[in-house]
Amino acid sequence: LVLVVDFGAQYAQLIARRVREARVYSEIVPHTMPVEEMLARKPAAIVLSGGPSSVYADGAPGIDAALFAAGVPVFGMCYGFQLMAAGMGGEVAATGAREYGRTPVTVTDGGTLLAGIPGEHKVWMSHGDSVTGAPAGFSVLASTTVTPVAAFEDLSRRLAGVQWHPEVLHSEHGQTVLEHFLVDIAGCRQTWTIGNIAEEQIERVRAQIGERGKAICGLSGGVDSAVAAAIVQRAIGDRLTCVYVDHGLMRAGETEQIERDFVAATGAQLVVVDAEKQFLDALAGVTEPEAKRKIIGREFIRTFEAAQADILGSDPAATVGTEEDGKIAFLVQGTLYPDVVESGGGAGTSNIKSHHNVGGLPDDLEFELVEPLRELFKDEVRAVGAQLGLPDVIVQRQPFPGPGLGIRIIGEVTRSNLDILRAADKIAREEMTAAGLDGDIWQMPVVLLADVRSVGVQGDGRTYGHPIVLRPVTSEDAMTADWARLPYEVLETISTRITNEVPEVNRVTVDITSKPPGTIEWE
Ligand code: XMP
Repeated sequence: LVLVVDFGAQYAQLIARRVREARVYSEIVPHTMPVEEMLARKPAAIVLSGGPSSVYADGAPGIDAALFAAGVPVFGMCYGFQLMAAGMGGEVAATGAREYGRTPVTVTDGGTLLAGIPGEHKVWMSHGDSVTGAPAGFSVLASTTVTPVAAFEDLSRRLAGVQWHPEVLHSEHGQTVLEHFLVDIAGCRQTWTIGNIAEEQIERVRAQIGERGKAICGLSGGVDSAVAAAIVQRAIGDRLTCVYVDHGLMRAGETEQIERDFVAATGAQLVVVDAEKQFLDALAGVTEPEAKRKIIGREFIRTFEAAQADILGSDPAATVGTEEDGKIAFLVQGTLYPDVVESGGGAGTSNIKSHHNVGGLPDDLEFELVEPLRELFKDEVRAVGAQLGLPDVIVQRQPFPGPGLGIRIIGEVTRSNLDILRAADKIAREEMTAAGLDGDIWQMPVVLLADVRSVGVQGDGRTYGHPIVLRPVTSEDAMTADWARLPYEVLETISTRITNEVPEVNRVTVDITSKPPGTIEWE
């Protein structure tokens, strides 16, 4: 186990992922965790992340210097590097020399940390203060034009650090530096694999649910809930019931795909609730985006809860428990590690969300959550899903919003508008797949401007139809995005096919706005 101490920058998650990519298991802990508590978890090494502040700023997050004397290997990155320098008696100063973004670094003495790394290479920096003097016993390994001490190590105490961010893709040799620390300095064994995690989680779920317990899982059609359900199915077989609410806002073929492929791959019991009419009735006449989202969210919870109550109500054995613990049924959720970290949970506080009353159900019916993915990142979930035999159409699926096509129709969500959009979207997806572009983009919403009409000409006749917008984007995390430069030939084929095959559409446009200022979805 490697602990990544989070100093409040967004980099801690990325570091934790990179450590796992080096096949060493890692978890994130907050910098407020006392050092004794970190050491009590017996980590093989500790990594201090970057952070937003200067080590001298008022209220700057610190770390008890006892950590550096505890005998556990420590690696500091950026702010963590400066904390180590300051904590060990080196000099950190606001030299006025700032470095942001891609910066050339000169390796003066590779040592162990930078062994074999080219003398000149480019790394990603983001700092105001600089380390101007290494602590006693440390050898300086690298510098930049403005930072005299950009990397150091003390092999006898197994302490090392770099001023840059080796975890970001823009830092050349970043993963090599990290692995030098983990393996050559800290002596970690590279044994962690997704395979262990899947088996381990199946065991854990079995232990949590017990011999008789029954569980329910809401499937959304997305990767996370499908993989969570597959793990629980392996653990408890048909004591798991999956519920899929078909709100009528899915793309062409999606519901059938869940029914067919998910069940074929997992053998899970699936209840499909056809709620199309209920959703469309509730959405009638509504065009305002937030109003649509609220209605869809509300109807979803209603439908899901009614289905749960049905399943539990019709089968008394669905609840288990003794007199003391009352009746307990289990609710499976596809919560991921980033959600856990962001909600302040994580190691040591993992019980935060384990008991939970689901609103709308009888008060005496308490659900216990089963969250087999709470330690995993998205790419790891995909790998687990593939190992459990889920097909690519499920595990490699691009993000799709919960409210579905309801927020991709600008105007009223009616069955006829949905049919138009589904037809156009199907063509766009087919052509993207045919061109082999699915892996190159993050997602491509296809949007129907139901409120807009424009004049066109088709077969000597005037048309007055709706535009379709293609919104292909690239992104790493959906927080920011750029519009994807799709090949003209692919755009041409999509445009020709949509205008030929979908009579209500007479124009196809491409959205070339980045996020910000545009969001990925149009509503
Ligand atoms: P925006 O439009 O905010 O979208 O740039 C960012 C990402 O989130 C997805 N998205 C949603 N996902 N429920 C979801 O599960 C929602 O209400 C929702 N709204 C947007 C969107 O597809 C993109 O990947």
